[in-house]
Amino acid sequence: MEGINVEFTNISSNVNIWDSRAMKTFRPEKKTILNNVSGLFRRNQVGAIVGCSGSGKSTLMNILSGYMSSGYQGTVTLNGAQRDLLSFRNISSYIMQEDHLQLYLTVQESMEIAMKLKHSTIKLDIQNKISINNLLHNLLLHEKRDTLVYNLSGGECRRLTMALELVRSPKVMFFDEPTTGLDIVSANNVVKIMRKLADSGKTIICTIHQASAYHLTTFDTVYVLTPSGQCMYNGESSQIVDYFSHLGFQCPIYHNPADFVIELSLGEYGNSIDTLIKLVIDQNLISKDITDKSINNVPIIYSREYSSKYFSELWILMHRTLLTTFRDHFLVKVRLFVHFLLGSMFGIVYIGLGKSAMHVRDNAVLLFFCVMFMTYVAAFTMSIKFPLELSVMRKEYFNRWYSLSLYYISVTLVDLPVQIFCTFLFCSLIYLLSGQPFELFRISMFLLIFIVTGLMSQAIGMLVSTLCKSFVINTVIVALILMFWTTYAGGMIRISDTPKIYRWLYDISFMKHSVQGVLHSIYGFDRTVLPCPVMFCQYGSPKVMLKTIDMYENLYWINVSFITIVYIVLKICAFIALKYKLSVV
Ligand SMILES: Nc1ncnc2c1ncn2[C@@H]1O[C@H](COP(=O)(O)OP(=O)(O)OP(=O)(O)O)[C@@H](O)[C@H]1O
Ligand SMILES: [Mg+2]
Repeated sequence: MEGINVEFTNISSNVNIWDSRAMKTFRPEKKTILNNVSGLFRRNQVGAIVGCSGSGKSTLMNILSGYMSSGYQGTVTLNGAQRDLLSFRNISSYIMQEDHLQLYLTVQESMEIAMKLKHSTIKLDIQNKISINNLLHNLLLHEKRDTLVYNLSGGECRRLTMALELVRSPKVMFFDEPTTGLDIVSANNVVKIMRKLADSGKTIICTIHQASAYHLTTFDTVYVLTPSGQCMYNGESSQIVDYFSHLGFQCPIYHNPADFVIELSLGEYGNSIDTLIKLVIDQNLISKDITDKSINNVPIIYSREYSSKYFSELWILMHRTLLTTFRDHFLVKVRLFVHFLLGSMFGIVYIGLGKSAMHVRDNAVLLFFCVMFMTYVAAFTMSIKFPLELSVMRKEYFNRWYSLSLYYISVTLVDLPVQIFCTFLFCSLIYLLSGQPFELFRISMFLLIFIVTGLMSQAIGMLVSTLCKSFVINTVIVALILMFWTTYAGGMIRISDTPKIYRWLYDISFMKHSVQGVLHSIYGFDRTVLPCPVMFCQYGSPKVMLKTIDMYENLYWINVSFITIVYIVLKICAFIALKYKLSVV
């Protein structure tokens, strides 16, 4: 496929600002980020978008790359034809300002996984391995191939991000602030690599807010944005000083021209910005005539087939998640430790009480607390863990490494054994220490209800963390949901003592279904009368206890089915929410 020219026409973007005044009047203030900007970035060239902080560089980049697919006016065309967003994402790469990488993989492993995902293959052939070698050599990373990404420097991370995207051989590459945060040598290396990429036929578009004079000479074209989101210069980088000097703005000797244009855009050389903006608009009108004649209007359609090698890709993603979970095992260890600690603590406090008719009520309280523990820990763990993975996933999904459903299934499957093992550990300790009946069918039912409860709670955590933006809000909302349903778990107040209008809440409370299922796995299914060591035990017959708390009816399998259905519905909702979240910026 030939190279691609990216052209944009009359792009404007406005946002609503909700400051304290707008909150009071319910009328947000409109802020213009980009104001009717047009331009062209050509194949085989490095085009730099320059401007002061807040001038709209990243916003323009987001629009051009398709990362921002709504909330703007204007058009973006590729080789003169309307941009098809999905096709464009298959042949372009967006390298964001922050390097979102898998920290617990080595450089070589990261490259191999990217290559495997590209070819949907579990095993790489010799040609693929040579390509990885070449890429690592070209990006000066060959000596770091066995280093964990966690231990790479900022510059090396940036180059690895580039190498990972180059595996897919994109035609157009977007770089948001590729040199920010790097020392001058690392920054120069990145700029040199961009130059090489452009020379090899790619279209390179980058934003930069502190370019050195050397960087400026490496770029082919420069697009200068003013603080008002308008274009002040759109042309060759080598002409920039002459252009402004002809207009009466002389760049001081020994002054960096990149700094000069930014100072000029900020009005430090007089207030003629409006004139400069108007000149650019006039020039655009003239150059548009020329480009219109030189382009072909064939739309670029390129699709990537996901379905054919679904299982290979799923396996690669699961393998990657397993590797990183295995290496970054702190959270897994903490989860196991918490289940072990609480299981032993509860079990020791209630040691042997499950056998005696004297302590049936105490035992029921223990089981109620076990359900609470399981739901709270599972939901909070997921609501904190899941958002941490989203930043890497967002970048890879946008750059079309894999489909969202594959990622979602792999994350769910890899966490399943960890969650089930934690539940098993906790339940075994509680069951054995507190002296519950040693019958295989009761043990299995006890485990099953806790497993489905834990998984369903994880789904709550996942859904909330997908919908909310911050950890704090996640935590508050998860706590709110769980507290609400705990009230309707049947452990606080007898169901028959609750006003009739609220009773239906017990029927749809997953907590109540869980508590009822657990109680029946222990006391239901015709359990015989328990031995009473004193004269009289009120709850000698388990049926009396179940009747007292209004859970006499044996609905064990309905309880399990209800929780499972809630789990499936929540997982589907979380997937839809994730898809929606990734489609809006
Ligand atoms: N969704 C939004 N809501 C409100 N303001 C926004 C939103 N997105 C961007 N802005 C504002 O628009 C302006 C331009 O943002 P943008 O990130 O494009 O700037 P930039 O030129 O990339 O800046 P920098 O060099 O600091 O990265 C900023 O003032 C920013 O606060
Ligand atoms: Mg920016």
